[in-house]
Amino acid sequence: MKINIKRFNQNENDFIKEYEVKNENLLQSLIEIRNNLDATLTFRCGCKSGVCGSCAVRVNGVERLSCKTKINDNDLIEPIKYCKVIKDLVVDVSHETLLIKKSNLSINENIIYSEINKEDIKNIDLQSNCILCNSCYSSCPIYEVNGNFIGPFALTRALRYVNDKKCSNHNLIFDSVQTNGIWDCTLCSSCTLVCPQGIDPKSDIMKLQNLSIQKGYTNPYQQNLNFSDSFDNFDNFGGFNPNGF
Ligand code: SF4
Ligand code: SF4
Ligand code: FES
Repeated sequence: MKINIKRFNQNENDFIKEYEVKNENLLQSLIEIRNNLDATLTFRCGCKSGVCGSCAVRVNGVERLSCKTKINDNDLIEPIKYCKVIKDLVVDVSHETLLIKKSNLSINENIIYSEINKEDIKNIDLQSNCILCNSCYSSCPIYEVNGNFIGPFALTRALRYVNDKKCSNHNLIFDSVQTNGIWDCTLCSSCTLVCPQGIDPKSDIMKLQNLSIQKGYTNPYQQNLNFSDSFDNFDNFGGFNPNGF
């Protein structure tokens, strides 16, 4: 079977290279290439079992975990998007910490553990399963126009902390996700479709929007709307409106 891999090295233009492999699993194919055909091929992996989140790439434009992906003839393998490529399929993921810090997510040190029951754990279980693979981040179209967007994995994590009884700084989290956050999402579902953990960041963002409204926040894009204006004059909408109004 043939696969095509986007190669990149500092100071070189990127190029696509074709390899003939025997393995059907993508990660095993990458290892096969590195061991037998081209020792310079660079990629990340850790657990080899879908747990660590380090091996995400794009296969024919769709984010996938290499270790959980069966390849087909002539598949194109590329690094994930919106990250600086360090070499071949390895990218800089320093944005992860920045985006999570932006949302001010933390557990209160003075928690009372005896108050936590099974139902409380169930409320945060799914979002806690995020393996920070960056698939949702790479699939999100907002990064084409707004590099400051907090984005799906940090926002899904924000809901997890808001629902966590051990967390007491809910107001700070809500404040933190209003700008470049929940209202900038177009609810397109790309993040949900690619998540290998079955997490639904789009729904989590909608829940954060509803909770924000209940707390008295408003959608800044709706505030900018003036329905008395003619729809012929789109300049009145104040620039890019990700919610498509
Ligand atoms: S639903 Fe929102 S966060 Fe998810 S990919 Fe679409 S725009 Fe990005
Ligand atoms: S939410 Fe899903 S796709 Fe996004 S980083 Fe976490 S595990 Fe990966
Ligand atoms: S190597 Fe850990 S998720 Fe693929």
